[in-house]
Amino acid sequence: MPAEISSPLPGIGVCAFDAYGTLFDVNSAAGRLRAELGEKVDHLSAVWRTKQLEYSWLRSLMGQHADFWRVTGDALDFAMDEAGLDDDALRERLMSQYLSLDAYEDSRPVLDLLRGSGMKLCILSNGAPAMLDAATASAGLGTYLDAVLSIEEAGVFKPHPTAYQLVPDRFQVPKEAVCFVSSNGWDCAGAASFGFRVIWLNRADRTPERLPAKPATAIRELRALPSLLGLTP
Ligand code: LAC
Repeated sequence: MPAEISSPLPGIGVCAFDAYGTLFDVNSAAGRLRAELGEKVDHLSAVWRTKQLEYSWLRSLMGQHADFWRVTGDALDFAMDEAGLDDDALRERLMSQYLSLDAYEDSRPVLDLLRGSGMKLCILSNGAPAMLDAATASAGLGTYLDAVLSIEEAGVFKPHPTAYQLVPDRFQVPKEAVCFVSSNGWDCAGAASFGFRVIWLNRADRTPERLPAKPATAIRELRALPSLLGLTP
């Protein structure tokens, strides 16, 4: 497991958050159609997310970038095909849910507390700008964020370092002044390798990745973040 840290991370001026799986519950898309999908819902959602990430990594390695809306749609097509679902109307209903995913219940209060402390806050996500704008507006998170950064500006998906570079460029701070928070272990490794101070929000109690860079520590819920930054509720 990542180390416990005994004192708050010093010198953090910007908190950057991954979006999907960190602030937004990606399973809420298929979950809203649970009645229609029946017992297929959980497996479909898991395959959809797995393929979405795999396709983002593979497209970056292949040099064949397409935005996250296209990648999310391709991943859904795979998941529906594998589930034996051939229904264009259902596909569109599932895709439209991605524009208004549920925010986790702790996202808003923690962002509010951090904002009140004067911390600069942003999202750094693979999501296409229109996806992220819709989701942050739908969840009412936009008011807490100084920026919503899509990797589309970099033209390559995380964990490529060019994607993470968007944050120090936007806020004109050194990498070390950025605390990056993600529920995705691979994203934490990429961000730590880039030079951010990283907190792994291990919401699903997953096994730590064996990758060349590690988060400073892991937390199970977002409410544990402020104290790691020396901020008390
Ligand atoms: C994101 C995905 C990878 O928001 O969770 O970038």
